[in-house]
Amino acid sequence: MARLVMVSNRVIDFNVAQQAGGVAVAIYNTLARQSGFWFGWDGQIVDSDCAEIKVSRANGHMTVTEPLTPADYAEYYLGYSNSVLWPVFHNRLDLAQFEAGYYSRYVAVNERFAAHLAPLIEPDDVIWVHDYHLLPMALELRKLGIENPIGYFLHIPVGPAQALLAIPENKEIARALSAYDLIGLQTQSDVRNLIDFLQQSVFGRLLPSGRIRVFEAELDIGCFPVGIDPADFAFGPGEVEALKAADTSETNRIIGIDRLDYTKGLPQKFRAYGKFLDEYPNYRRRIVLSQFAPPTRESVEAYADIKAELESLAGSINGRFGELDWVPINYIHRTIPRAELRDVYRLSRIGWVTPLMDGMNLVAKEFIACQDPADPGVLILSKFAGAAAQLTDAVLVNPYDVNDMVQGLRIALEMPLDERRERHDRLLSGIRKNDSNDWSHSYFSALMKAGQRRFARS
Ligand code: G6P
Repeated sequence: MARLVMVSNRVIDFNVAQQAGGVAVAIYNTLARQSGFWFGWDGQIVDSDCAEIKVSRANGHMTVTEPLTPADYAEYYLGYSNSVLWPVFHNRLDLAQFEAGYYSRYVAVNERFAAHLAPLIEPDDVIWVHDYHLLPMALELRKLGIENPIGYFLHIPVGPAQALLAIPENKEIARALSAYDLIGLQTQSDVRNLIDFLQQSVFGRLLPSGRIRVFEAELDIGCFPVGIDPADFAFGPGEVEALKAADTSETNRIIGIDRLDYTKGLPQKFRAYGKFLDEYPNYRRRIVLSQFAPPTRESVEAYADIKAELESLAGSINGRFGELDWVPINYIHRTIPRAELRDVYRLSRIGWVTPLMDGMNLVAKEFIACQDPADPGVLILSKFAGAAAQLTDAVLVNPYDVNDMVQGLRIALEMPLDERRERHDRLLSGIRKNDSNDWSHSYFSALMKAGQRRFARS
């Protein structure tokens, strides 16, 4: 079988207990099943004269990583990736910072990564590039003579064409995309938006085959919703009993786990929770919202702003409703170790996931996977998460509408056992069917076909 070369900005170490978010876990799970290696940033920031490429092997898996310089970190990672592409693709043009210098550094880092990766590529390798940090990777590899199939998967949503067209370098981005054989996105709506963008930016032409002609290329764009591996969350014999015996809480826990990002709808969630406690006083002391919000990209101004806003909201809700022996919001500004996730999900009555826009959101799927089928908790999910297209049996809410959020919480808390079971049953079968294995297999085979088509045309 062909070797799979995964390329992403963030690489996690196969030796270290996982603490990573969805993208890294999806790649990790795929490489655990297929031979190949993982290339990207090692998470370190060092001066360029100290930079070295590290090859590490653990449990039969190989990672090849390198550090970023302080200037790369500022302009490629915090700058173009997280202050231009991230806000624009999430339709937050108001937060985008189009600073001079960001784009050239972004291209330079992609060029350097490509130069270090190219010599490692063998003729039968299939290259799969992930996420917005590495959009120009295929173009750079092609310049170096790499003719292998190269696919791209964007884990974040694609905002409307009008937002993407505001990026000064939008034509360069369209050209960079045209160097891939296959572009994978999370939802059909992302596919429509990207096609719309390519049509408007560079006169892309939709062909009868469904492919899109951009410059000289015929590009395949498809929807491949990323999944989880439910086995990662399975409980062994006796584990659930021990967990229940150790749980002394008398309140119903509502769980939220989101990086502290302005796309996650956290202030909207806290405001809705405050309104709920106000309107339904009988629920006071009976519920608690445990919100994990690990720090992320803190030197970007918009992230500092959201942190201050959220802390002030949590403080004012706890100050207003809290009692000596009851704190309504348990706000934790730390990462939850993956090993503890399963127990926390299982002991929660509600999973509350309310992003304003999100590529997929694997927390929603993980929460479902951990529930007790005989007495499951309820998932409340934003209509604007990619996962909502699949998880239609969740209680779907509009995070911009505080009343809808309040009613969603009430419906979830009051839902009778029969209905909880029926919904959970359908949700769980969907998650099992569209799991991470299914995602990587279907993407990989589509990429092989797209690669063969390019070969036949050339
Ligand atoms: C999102 C992105 C990923 C990214 C992750 C964590 O899920 O799609 O590419 O790795 O956030 O963000 P960070 O900036 O810490 O890598």
